[in-house]
Amino acid sequence: MEKIILTGDRPTGRLHIGHYVGSLRGRVQLQNSGEYDKVFIMIADAQALTDNFDNPDKVRSNILQVTLDYLSCGIDPKKTNVFIQSQIPELPELTQFYLNLVTVSRLERNPTIKSEIQMRGFDRAIPAGFLCYPVSQAADITFCKATTVPVGEDQIPMLEQAREIVRTFNRIYGETLVEPEILLPENEASLRLPGTDGKAKMSKSLGNCIYLSDEPEVIKQKIMTMYTDPLHIQVSDPGHIEGNTVFTYLDAFCRPDDFERFLPEYANLDELKAHYQKGGLGDVKVKRFLNAIMQDTLGEIRARRKEYEKDLDYVYDVLVEGTKVAREAGKETMADVKRAMKIDYFDNTDWLKL
Ligand code: TRP
Repeated sequence: MEKIILTGDRPTGRLHIGHYVGSLRGRVQLQNSGEYDKVFIMIADAQALTDNFDNPDKVRSNILQVTLDYLSCGIDPKKTNVFIQSQIPELPELTQFYLNLVTVSRLERNPTIKSEIQMRGFDRAIPAGFLCYPVSQAADITFCKATTVPVGEDQIPMLEQAREIVRTFNRIYGETLVEPEILLPENEASLRLPGTDGKAKMSKSLGNCIYLSDEPEVIKQKIMTMYTDPLHIQVSDPGHIEGNTVFTYLDAFCRPDDFERFLPEYANLDELKAHYQKGGLGDVKVKRFLNAIMQDTLGEIRARRKEYEKDLDYVYDVLVEGTKVAREAGKETMADVKRAMKIDYFDNTDWLKL
């Protein structure tokens, strides 16, 4: 069986470092690993519209921002097909049939949907399209027969729901769809990077993000005012590592040679942590180290972004070509699905008899 990756993002804003460590960095590695026959990355504009239907300009303008973020992080269009969800007609077509296989109460129990309904204050006025987006996401994953879906932890319920749909479909209509596997980031800190304020999630609405396209001064300012350990008041006080955002970020970003380059007094992160816990190591010093690492990583990304920004025709072509490849995959799967569901009337006329 071919190994196929599919993943994606909603184009509701520029991508931030939570997206980077939670997913983008891993996608680039997967893309370059040579282990996969095909890689698809979807810009989920139709999904973004399920709760932004009254703001189409926001979704439209962020298609370009997100594509630039992808390219600047190292997504290579020669290896990865980047495509736009709404331009693949097979996706809503599959969704329509999958909707028959899911109950409303099952959708209401989806933990991600539950918390998003709360966060958005929908209360009882839940748009039907929003409630059903996990079904549409199952279509996103299955339309290209994806075997592997690299995503963050918050997407676990979506994958479970997609797998259920696949199993139900295959049971009723015969073995047709591929049951996808989730691929979570290996690094614990990267699973869910907290915001700069220490809150559980980095999110645009909470205003606690560092964006991939932030300028160096902005990054520095965000790091220097970052939440640390409120009990670590004097430098000499023993400090806590758990729940300390600066250390969580170091866990997610620090590479072995960063000490040699930026903080040679310490051999590794364990040594730095031990000193902090014992007392005698100030926040400012740790923050400066984190800043050096982040400036290095994000500097490269920002420089590449500036190059791509000068060649938007190329960016456009990336999307056109990626979408073409995705449409071909969609057509193939749709033909299989129609055959399995016995709605392939014009390809097989065995029904045309009395
Ligand atoms: N729900 C994902 C998010 O909010 C985006 C997404 C849409 C996606 N369709 C997908 C991710 C299919 C993986 C696979 O980030």
